[in-house]
Amino acid sequence: MKDAAMPVITIDGPSGAGKGTVSVILARRLGFHYLDSGALYRLLAVAAARHQVTLDNIDGLAVLAAHMDILFRMAPGDAEPSITLEGEDVTRLLRGEQIGAQASRIAAIPEVRAALLRRQRVFARPPGLVADGRDMGTVVFPDAALKVFLTASADERARRRYNQLIGKGETASLRDLVAQVSERDERDRTRPVAPLRPAEDATVVDSTTMTIDAVVEAILTLARERLR
Ligand code: DC
Repeated sequence: MKDAAMPVITIDGPSGAGKGTVSVILARRLGFHYLDSGALYRLLAVAAARHQVTLDNIDGLAVLAAHMDILFRMAPGDAEPSITLEGEDVTRLLRGEQIGAQASRIAAIPEVRAALLRRQRVFARPPGLVADGRDMGTVVFPDAALKVFLTASADERARRRYNQLIGKGETASLRDLVAQVSERDERDRTRPVAPLRPAEDATVVDSTTMTIDAVVEAILTLARERLR
C-alpha cells in the first residue's frame, strides 16, 4: 500500500554510483529521514569481529543482526550521519574497503537479510524517508512512492572512489579499485537472495557524466511529480 502521508523514496544501485551523497542531500532538501542500509551490513561485519562471530556462523550472524545496539544520528549540517555501535562512534571505521568486502559477503546470507528487514522498515517514519541501498525498491519498500536505480560505469565509479581515498590522504591504486568494484558488483548482482537489480517500476538514472547537483535535481523533479 502506498502511503501518501509517509512517502518513501528508494535509491538503489551499485557502489560508487553516488547514492549516499545524493540520498543525504535529497533527505535534507525534502526534510525526510535517511536510511543508509549498506551501513547495517557494514555494522554487522564490525559487530561480528568484536563478538568473535565468524562469517560462516549463520545463526550467530542472524542473532547479532537482530540485536546489535546501533544508533544513527544526523545533526544539521553534517555531510553524513554519525553511526555508533554499542556506544562507540564507528562512522569512519565503517567506510574501510575491508569492511565493505566483508559486508558484501554477509549480505549474501538470507537469514541475515531477513533479520535486517524489520530494522530497516522502522526507518520509515513521517514526514518521509529516503532509503539508500541495493534492494530498497525491490524488497524492503516495494510500495515506495518513487524508486530510482542510480548507476554509473564501473570505471567512473572506481575513479570516484580513487579520488575520495586520495582526498583523504590515503594511498590507492586505480587498477586495483576497478577490479574491486567489478568483483563486488558481480557478487551483489549474482547472489540468489535480493540480487542487485532495478525494480520493475524504477527509473534508471545513469550518473556517469552527471554532476551530483544534476542527479539531485533530476530526482527532485521526479519526486515533485510522484509525491503530490
Ligand atoms: O552501500 P555499501 O557499500 O555501504 O554496502 C555494503 C555492502 O552491503 C555491499 O556490498 C552490498 C550490501 N548491501 C546490500 O546487499 N543490500 C543493501 N540494501 C545495502 C547494501
